[in-house]
Amino acid sequence: MFSLLHLVSLSLAVSHAIAVADWGQCDSGAACIKVNDYYSQCQPGTAAPTTSVVTTSGPGTTVAPPAPAASGLNAAFTSHSGKLFFGACADSGTLNIAKNAAILKSDFGGVTPENSMKWDATEPSQNQFSYGGADTLVNWATTNGKKVRAHTLVWHSQLPGWVSSIGSASTLTSVIQNHIKNLAGRYAGKVYAWDVCNEIFNEDGSLRSSVFSNLLGESFVKIAFEAARAADPNAKLYINDYNLDSNNAKVQGMVALVKRTNSGSKLIDGVGTQMHLSAGGTGGVSAALTALASTGLEVAITELDIAGASANDYSNVVKACLAVSQCVSITVWGVSDANSWRSSTSPLLYDNNYNPKAAYTAVMQALA
Ligand code: G3I
Repeated sequence: MFSLLHLVSLSLAVSHAIAVADWGQCDSGAACIKVNDYYSQCQPGTAAPTTSVVTTSGPGTTVAPPAPAASGLNAAFTSHSGKLFFGACADSGTLNIAKNAAILKSDFGGVTPENSMKWDATEPSQNQFSYGGADTLVNWATTNGKKVRAHTLVWHSQLPGWVSSIGSASTLTSVIQNHIKNLAGRYAGKVYAWDVCNEIFNEDGSLRSSVFSNLLGESFVKIAFEAARAADPNAKLYINDYNLDSNNAKVQGMVALVKRTNSGSKLIDGVGTQMHLSAGGTGGVSAALTALASTGLEVAITELDIAGASANDYSNVVKACLAVSQCVSITVWGVSDANSWRSSTSPLLYDNNYNPKAAYTAVMQALA
């Protein structure tokens, strides 16, 4: 549990949109503001309504245009040099919500499986693999032309009991290698990146106690990355963690471990910073991204959400990524507040009704 969750009760007043019926027209006191090619929103003001998105088919009726293949966040982000995709997490539950899936198609360029590729989902019993949820996610991404940030191969959490209770270093080594060979091998060539190791640090930058570090010390990192490289030679291999939100001791520990691990041959291709933030907590983000980029590797913001975020918080993060050339992608940890693991804190870019919030508009402005 993160310390930032102390802020879960922050107020949520972030959306100023005026509610209208589906495909309806704005009142005279409001203007129809284009948010993206798929969505416009009535906002207070006296400007003349735009007609760039909604077309009139007869007196008093309006018709929504078909959604284009990709626009909005991903198009705006990738219009900047070196920026690869703006993604969101998903899985079958959220892909089955029509409004959610429509937004993923129109606004996002990548998806991360929120839970379906974790160890408890994919190998709940030893050598018994279960790929239903992961296949759904990867097939959806392939069909819709989205990149996949695969998540995650070695993590102390959502780890089945049969792994946690292993007591021998050699058994654990072969178990890690077998898990990665099967899981990363299944999706070889279909994913852009893998989070190979997730959340392996304490806040002081030392290694977290887990079955992996307790039996194998730091060597489990090389074991995992070597297995992932063998299973999917073309995937970018990432190490990922949370609370890398300022140039703190954990960031320093991450940078040092990455340099040690890569000192022989390059095993780690990228560093992921999850960025589960809270309102007003974005001041150190630029320094963190710069410090992580000192590894010489790709950097990605992998699970962005901001409890009680103001529009300004979101634009600060996006501008910080734009300013660091190695920051190649931003992934938000969900589309709508309705489906977030922190839903009571209004942390995402779309509200409970799948309407873009002020934070969304601020991100688009930051990307303009
Ligand atoms: O699938 C079971 C279901 O069978 C059962 O009936 C139900 C009862 O609670 O639980 C379901 O599992 C839940 C799972 O999500 C799938 O919905 C777990 O309880 C729940 O703990 C789990 O939460 C996920 C959490 O990781 C687990 O640690 C969140 O959805 C997911 O957003 C979150 O994601 C993590 C990243 O992977 C790593 N970084 C932090 C981030 C937020 O915690």
